[in-house]
Amino acid sequence: VARKFFVGGNFKMNGSLKEVETIVQRINDAKFDGSAELVVAPPALYLLKIQGELNPPAQVSAQNSYTEKSGAFTGEISPNQLKDANVHWVILGHSERRSLFGDTDKLVADKTKAAVGAGLSVIACIGESLEERESGKTQAVVERQLEAIANEISESDWKNIVIAYEPVWAIGTGKVATKEQAQETHEQIRQWLAKKVSQSTADETRIIYGGSVNGKNCTDLSNAPDIDGFLVGGASLKPEFIDIVNSQK
Ligand code: G3H
Repeated sequence: VARKFFVGGNFKMNGSLKEVETIVQRINDAKFDGSAELVVAPPALYLLKIQGELNPPAQVSAQNSYTEKSGAFTGEISPNQLKDANVHWVILGHSERRSLFGDTDKLVADKTKAAVGAGLSVIACIGESLEERESGKTQAVVERQLEAIANEISESDWKNIVIAYEPVWAIGTGKVATKEQAQETHEQIRQWLAKKVSQSTADETRIIYGGSVNGKNCTDLSNAPDIDGFLVGGASLKPEFIDIVNSQK
């Protein structure tokens, strides 16, 4: 099954309006070979401005959304509001949301349910901590995180989900997972999808890798059969992001 290579640029809470516009201008000016689907996630404050400036087919993504459609939830954005504003993607379950802002497996799953219910596509992030990897719990952790999501959504909803496997120890540390480490977990995730959701879901769902991806290590990683793209943090702010988008072999 041909899965379209997918690259997300997660700007996190970085950049001024001017800096973000400069980054987006660089993306607009770049030559892409067309093999990748490209989505960039600026801070929410800049989403609509950047959406207006980014050249299609690149799209913008939110970095988070809430479970409810509307109401007294100060500081939150609803998936329905994103949909209304023509923002079609949202990142959910990022490890920084999980570790710093109390996004539990259940909350991530409920947010995912609300987002796909509102018609959004979701970059659903999962991944183990260093301690969990060192104690041999990687597979159990990612499966627990996936199970929570699977419990809340239907089989057809998986068409609107890209799974981002991001080992926490590799995020922003410069310590990238090896191709073998990433491939092993991606393969386990795909097998889990086949067993718990369906074979077609396993065949069609993009599983992307995140954690210290850069212009140098991307080509090796993109070679692995179950790595269908990347979720890029720090390097998405730099010129090498273009090489990452073009890194599919
Ligand atoms: O969402 C992106 C990931 O957290 C990866 O961040 O590329 O800066 O390690 P990083």
